[in-house]
Amino acid sequence: MKRITIIHASASGGTRALVSAFCEGAHECDDVLTLTRSADVCTREDLLASDALIFASPENFGYMAGSLKAMFDRLFYACMADTTALGGGVDSVLAGRAYAVMICAGNDGSGALNSIERIVTGWRMKRMHPGLIARRVGGEAGSSKGELRSADLAAAQELGAAVANAVAMGAV
Ligand SMILES: Cc1cc2nc3c(=O)[nH]c(=O)nc-3n(C[C@H](O)[C@H](O)[C@H](O)COP(=O)(O)O)c2cc1C
Repeated sequence: MKRITIIHASASGGTRALVSAFCEGAHECDDVLTLTRSADVCTREDLLASDALIFASPENFGYMAGSLKAMFDRLFYACMADTTALGGGVDSVLAGRAYAVMICAGNDGSGALNSIERIVTGWRMKRMHPGLIARRVGGEAGSSKGELRSADLAAAQELGAAVANAVAMGAV
């Protein structure tokens, strides 16, 4: 069965709410399995077994969450294959694999999004979406106290449905 894996980090629940909304949308499509993996436990096999990968993170200090960065540190080179002995070069085993990014932020989110984009560019993955950024409202700037807008949760749900349908149709 085709598979989407959402690799996520969330300290105060905002990103987790985006992940839940994404899953709700993806579950509208019966032909695709949607799994969630904490960045802390995500393995190379989780990445390789997936037709599409979703990276979901808060923005902390203008960057992705530390646990997601640690996952990239742990798995980046594990997902590069050295084919020089066969006359090739070093290339990503995830080249062409579809991905999308969801960020939950206090007031910005672009730093976290860009930090993930830079790394997956090195894996030569295929971007399915320009990146969803949800900013909390009603708390002080940068805090974890504000609420998520219903429009952002709806956008995450729509993204889930769109990714699942694209994966089911083999369009990615
Ligand atoms: C240590 C820390 C650093 C943060 N840095 C930023 C930041 O640089 N930019 C921003 O927009 N929000 C920042 N925030 C706010 C978080 O991105 C926001 O609370 C987000 O909803 C957290 O996601 P989570 O609920 O999934 O943990 C920061 C929050 C914390 C706790």
